[in-house]
Amino acid sequence: MLNRFFGRFSRDIAIDLGTSNTRLFVKEKGLVMHEPSFVAVNTRTNQILAVGHSAKDMVGKTPPHITTTRPLTKGVISDFEVTEKMLKYFVDAIHEDSGFAIVPRPRIVMGVPLEITEVERKAVEDAAIGAGAREVSLVEAPLAAAIGAGLPVEESIGNMLVDVGGGTVEIAVISLGGIVTWKSLTVAGDEMTKNIMQYARDVFNLLIGERVAETVKWRIGSTTDTGDRLEMEMRGRDLVTGLPRQVLVNEGQVREAMYKSVRGLIDNIKATIEVTPPELVADIYERGIVLTGGGALLRGLDRSIAKEADIPVRVAEDPTTATVRGLGTLLVNDVLLRDIALPSTGSDSSSR
Ligand SMILES: Nc1ncnc2c1ncn2[C@@H]1O[C@H](COP(=O)(O)OP(=O)(O)OP(=O)(O)O)[C@@H](O)[C@H]1O
Ligand SMILES: [Mg+2]
Repeated sequence: MLNRFFGRFSRDIAIDLGTSNTRLFVKEKGLVMHEPSFVAVNTRTNQILAVGHSAKDMVGKTPPHITTTRPLTKGVISDFEVTEKMLKYFVDAIHEDSGFAIVPRPRIVMGVPLEITEVERKAVEDAAIGAGAREVSLVEAPLAAAIGAGLPVEESIGNMLVDVGGGTVEIAVISLGGIVTWKSLTVAGDEMTKNIMQYARDVFNLLIGERVAETVKWRIGSTTDTGDRLEMEMRGRDLVTGLPRQVLVNEGQVREAMYKSVRGLIDNIKATIEVTPPELVADIYERGIVLTGGGALLRGLDRSIAKEADIPVRVAEDPTTATVRGLGTLLVNDVLLRDIALPSTGSDSSSR
């Protein structure tokens, strides 16, 4: 009876712990949470004030005793304590939603970046256990993204996936359930946002916040001339007078600002293809490259890559949730999970 009860209400969870966003997927329910990886802390009391959207909304607007932090940097945990608290907050929120006071500890499947060290991997496992997991499985994030994008990762076919996240770009060629060639870059979406901030400083003498720069990138950012001639007002502080000022910025200027970062991304895709075995390259030429992650939404990126690499490119459906949906698939496919999960670093919930 007890087992049936637990089996029925146990919430196995897939988590994509990203530098910019964290997503949670619950077995049989689907995507249940999609929030920025931001935490606001009161430094006087060390208490968490807000997590997710509400914490991101506070960025740049806090008094000295409140800090907004992003506990992950370039795909890996940089502040363990805050990451653990953020995860616990998200996991508890799901459990509260389930309407049961006592919920058994869930099994958690998480994605991790490719070039993660053993210590960084252990930190992810420990954070999941601290957040309440009974058991943790880790999977290479691009493999999960490929599964989420519907690619036949287990077959002997070359699949090429490029995930353009906030803190990392992961380029992977996958065949037979494993990653054959890859590159992991730390110049990703957030760096493009910084490029826009730098450009505003250099060209307009204007100091703009990260939120403003990111909005500019989303609204009018592109990698190739789209013919749309988009423009928008960008507000900030004049570096000379110290007073508020707004300038009109256009699509071409934003493209110029991000040029180097986009160039590096495309060059690394080409470099990865160059070291990929020819049989797999032939498959990739035929099947194309699939883009996932929030950066895949940058207008024209698919076309720019296709033109430069001379390979068809498509953006996965709902690219920002591909990784967590792929991890979610693994919650109901034990055989595949066993095949592709990384070996455990030995974290154990019973030791807590
Ligand atoms: N429409 C858009 N146009 C351009 N960039 C976008 C758009 N939407 C989101 N992004 C960018 O995508 C990035 C976030 O992507 P995503 O949520 O996949 O990252 P993440 O998974 O949190 O990070 P990582 O995988 O690097 O740890 C941010 O830099 C964000 O600005
Ligand atoms: Mg990601």
